[in-house]
Amino acid sequence: MEIKSSNTPLVDWKGDGLAVGLFEEAVELTGELATLDEKLAGVLKELIAEEEFKGKAGTSIHTRLTGGSPIRKVIVVGLGKPEDFQLETLRSTAASIARLGKKQKCKTLGINLPVSNNDQAKTAQAIAEGVELGLYEDIRFKSEPEEKVVNVESVDLLGLGEQEAAISRARQISSGVILARELVNAPANEVTPITMAEIAQTLASDYGLQIEILEQEDCEKLGMGAFLGVAKASDLPPKFIHLSYKPQGTPKRKLAIIGKGLTFDSGGLNIKGAGSGIETMKIDMGGAAATFGAAKAIGQLKPDVEVHFISAVTENMISGHAMHPGDILKASNGKTIEVNNTDAEGRLTLADALVFADKLGVDAIVDLATLTGACVVALGDNIAGMFTPDDALGSQLQTAAETGGEKLWRMPMEDKYFEGLKSGIADMKNTGPRAGGSITAALFLKQFVKDTPAWAHLDIAGPVWADKESGVNNAGATGFGVRTLVSWVTTAVE
Ligand code: BES
Ligand code: MG
Ligand code: ZN
Repeated sequence: MEIKSSNTPLVDWKGDGLAVGLFEEAVELTGELATLDEKLAGVLKELIAEEEFKGKAGTSIHTRLTGGSPIRKVIVVGLGKPEDFQLETLRSTAASIARLGKKQKCKTLGINLPVSNNDQAKTAQAIAEGVELGLYEDIRFKSEPEEKVVNVESVDLLGLGEQEAAISRARQISSGVILARELVNAPANEVTPITMAEIAQTLASDYGLQIEILEQEDCEKLGMGAFLGVAKASDLPPKFIHLSYKPQGTPKRKLAIIGKGLTFDSGGLNIKGAGSGIETMKIDMGGAAATFGAAKAIGQLKPDVEVHFISAVTENMISGHAMHPGDILKASNGKTIEVNNTDAEGRLTLADALVFADKLGVDAIVDLATLTGACVVALGDNIAGMFTPDDALGSQLQTAAETGGEKLWRMPMEDKYFEGLKSGIADMKNTGPRAGGSITAALFLKQFVKDTPAWAHLDIAGPVWADKESGVNNAGATGFGVRTLVSWVTTAVE
């Protein structure tokens, strides 16, 4: 698919589908839209009146024009209230236009939406992201398409001038989001620790990243007993993956991004019971997927920042080799952990990944993990929990999420709750009481960061997956985290 931006006047555009936006309670046609309507013999005005279109956010109307018209279909979308108009409005509106255009079998689409904040480049980027993400459909596992599909082949952004750089930024970021979606959507018999390592190799060679893969023996030498404890029951070898992006010249900052990489989480011997969603646990590498997606985008965007992408990848399985509930594991920083619940495995793998990142001398570490059901209970499906002792990093990430169009909510790191993880026999247990479960998980992780000035943990168990289409997300994996990470890494910090 091609995306172009130009100053072609609306009335001169020719193609299959032309989409325009109108604000709520402001559906009178003025300016270019009035001229277009005149040219179309009043069709737009009639359509708006007939459908009682009010411009509410998320609504749209469309009609077929008569044969011989240079435009086959017109689509009018509601933009909601002007005071709520943001980049995210543009992204989700563009996503629904693109989906509708595809359904209406439009090979060529023209999109004319208002400029946000007087910034044509950001507007073009947001629309292009919306189109790319809204059109993504995972058909890899269907042997035949469900219906005859016409794909959108070219999209013209109208009224925004030349925007080549903004559009290619949008495509680079979206390519990272889509990689993350593909990794999460693919089941555990497709995406395994081995394939994750292969994909990392491909990313490294495609985007000039450095790569280091630690095999089980390497992890043993580093004393990664927590990660290896989780990996014990799997028939597949664990892979500790470390990609790094190094800019030419001196980096402005050095950062590490860690993603939880459980290609499947059965719960281990504390096996997930009926109704626990065990069959959805292919999503448990959503953090690693976001990390890979960010690596893909950052490898193309080439910021002046050094970034390490780290994931300890394995499966949480059951077998005669499985760690027992009650086992004591020693992490690579020497701390001992009594595993009172084998289903709290993510934090065990992250413990060794955090210790590894902490030794790299970076300015900040951010980890992303589908870590707790408790976080989903607290914040629902759309919002990730952010846990950080560092206010500055917290606000950087909050801004990055807003810019990227993702939602984070800062949660408390109540040190007193660490009492819930006290163990009579080891330095700590891996699981505390049910209440405040996402907070004790974060407090557990904090034990493994010592020398790095700033660290944040994002619990993405909710937003990693969408049950139904909404905004730029189609049903399925969302690629959550990539847009926030890219925005965080590429924004200069004083
Ligand atoms: N992978 C799960 C968390 C999860 C739950 C992710 C729902 C996505 C959706 C994690 O490993 C887990 O099992 N956590 C337990 C922790 C508990 C044993 C302390 C949980 O949340 O129940
Ligand atoms: Mg688990
Ligand atoms: Zn898990």
